[in-house]
Amino acid sequence: MTEAHVTYPVLEHIRKRSYLKSRDEYTAMYKKSIDEPDEFWREQANRLDWFHPFQKVSDCDLANASIRWYEGGKLNVAHNCLDRHLSERGDQTAIIWEADEAKDGRHISYRELHAEVCKTANVLKSMGVKRGDRVCIYLPMIPELAYTMLACARIGAIHSIVFAGFSAESIRDRILDCEAKMVITANEGVRGGKRIALKSIVDKAVEGLEVVESVLVCRRTDTDVPMKSGRDFSFEEACSKQRPTCPAEWMDAEDPLFILYTSGSTGRPKGLLHTTGGYLTYASLTHKYVFDVHPGDVYCCAADIGWVTGHTYIIYGPLANGATTIMFESVPTYPDPGRYWDIVERHKVNIFYTAPTAIRAIAREGDQWVKKYDRSSLRILGTVGEPINPEAWEWYYDVVGEQKCAIVDTWWQTETGGIMITPLPGVNELKPGAATLPFFGVHPCLVDEEGKKIEATEAKGYLCMQAAWPGLARTVYGDHERFKQTYFSQYPGLYFTGDGCNRDKDGDYWITGRVDDVINVSGHRLGTAEIESSINAHPWVAESAVVGYPHEIKGTGILGFVILNANIGDQAKEEIVQAVREQVATDIGKFARPDLILVCPGLPKTRSGKIMRRILRKISVGEYGNLGNVTTLADPSVVDQIIGVHKEMVKK
Ligand code: PRX
Repeated sequence: MTEAHVTYPVLEHIRKRSYLKSRDEYTAMYKKSIDEPDEFWREQANRLDWFHPFQKVSDCDLANASIRWYEGGKLNVAHNCLDRHLSERGDQTAIIWEADEAKDGRHISYRELHAEVCKTANVLKSMGVKRGDRVCIYLPMIPELAYTMLACARIGAIHSIVFAGFSAESIRDRILDCEAKMVITANEGVRGGKRIALKSIVDKAVEGLEVVESVLVCRRTDTDVPMKSGRDFSFEEACSKQRPTCPAEWMDAEDPLFILYTSGSTGRPKGLLHTTGGYLTYASLTHKYVFDVHPGDVYCCAADIGWVTGHTYIIYGPLANGATTIMFESVPTYPDPGRYWDIVERHKVNIFYTAPTAIRAIAREGDQWVKKYDRSSLRILGTVGEPINPEAWEWYYDVVGEQKCAIVDTWWQTETGGIMITPLPGVNELKPGAATLPFFGVHPCLVDEEGKKIEATEAKGYLCMQAAWPGLARTVYGDHERFKQTYFSQYPGLYFTGDGCNRDKDGDYWITGRVDDVINVSGHRLGTAEIESSINAHPWVAESAVVGYPHEIKGTGILGFVILNANIGDQAKEEIVQAVREQVATDIGKFARPDLILVCPGLPKTRSGKIMRRILRKISVGEYGNLGNVTTLADPSVVDQIIGVHKEMVKK
């Protein structure tokens, strides 16, 4: 941390247009947001249309995990994202749908989007979905995903979107947990030229589930799929019977907007619940300042709406701000690694937001794929999801941005609802790999092993938050105690992020990654416990331990240490290893398939039976001589055996 970092000064042409013109301006606004939070957030709430004013700005108590913003206020998220824009920008493009094959894409204006959302809302109502009901959405990146989520918001139903790469079992778990009465899916998804049989995955997921009353099926391709009479309905047919108007429900600021499942250290994924007024205020404010979005800009977040990045920064933030947002159905390498820049050229994108894993994957394909396209429209380049290594940052800055764009390395989480630590265009100089400064209202601190707040500026510790902000999740759906335990009990009075972090002498924050048993694989968040439980379900497996290891493209790769039930020959072992990898892909989703499986004779356990992952993590990176204290292990000799097997694997 003491080494000198390369810094990149604010670019003058960026500052010329940016909302904030100097570090001093940021500091003054930041100070106000921390010293007088209620005053600050009262003003910011004016970004939204309220049907009825709120009585109290905030009522938060982190120690008790009690978070409430704008109570008494009535508003509707869909109204804020659609209706209020109609008079001024009804004909402006709200969503540019960039289909898997670019020629199939289309522009959807605010007026069209409003009509589609209203029709969809009427469909949901006609099928018995009421305010407060949960609706599970398992859709690819097609416009119907935007229609259905906004339709839920319009009638006060709570959506729970499940990324369309998850398995039937994962969907089923989520449906059961939130008791979704309706599931919305498509006959098939299309991605990178391949078709994905989504409806048949949903059929498996809902088989025998009484809670699911209906399945609404959108038609993305020409393929006919079996429809169960009385349960399955065609989305298009249902919409064709509905009127394009539907009143927006008056929701309380603290009424739920959505549930989004995310992985933690232990147990099954948690359904984080976000509510209405605070979430939308935070989404809208962060979207405006972090991406410095101005009227007329074309904004592209290349994430999937199945993750929180897509919720906040493809749909809610941009639409609340009346922006033009791109929904990208395909993958960065289809039909070739130039796809992102082809999109930038065709749509004259000004702001582009993606994940380090995608940047690394296309960077290695060569600069020619970037240079082929005109990128002169670009102003801001964003990254999110995992720490960005300086090489990838510099490639993004030099090659993609030609040193003319500001980079915003945005740190945040499913739980935080929106961006928390980030550079702001026009404000601060950039440091490759640093998320830099807290956003307005965000009050971070670093704590040490003992849970003591570290006062020194230059420090290394666990990243916590000392005050609530409007975008913070309110609870884990159906299990408030788990919410409290997971985030607020480790350091009483603070929100614990689960991330390690350095703060340099300038006060800039550098996120170092998770300090718990969560891993970020290609920006997808997974709990090692979930993967282990899937591996352990294989009949030949006695036990397993999963760790993340540095991976050139994915950021983190998945390595499973596995003990088999009996001694078996090498050939059979190889088959079991493959079967175990497939099992995880089937149980959770392909993105969770372990990269490496190491069959070993035992696991390093303490006498009380706890697996010491610290040792496995060191072994996974070849730090055999630096394992720390192993004397507390029940059987220290197992360590040498595992090292032996790991060395063999590395040799291969
Ligand atoms: O470890 C941090 C990492 O992603 C985690 C949150 O994952 P998820 O809830 O899936 O949300 C991802 C998208 C908001 C964090 O705890 N992370 C996210 N952004 C960054 C990051 N790590 C370093 N730098 C970032 N910019």
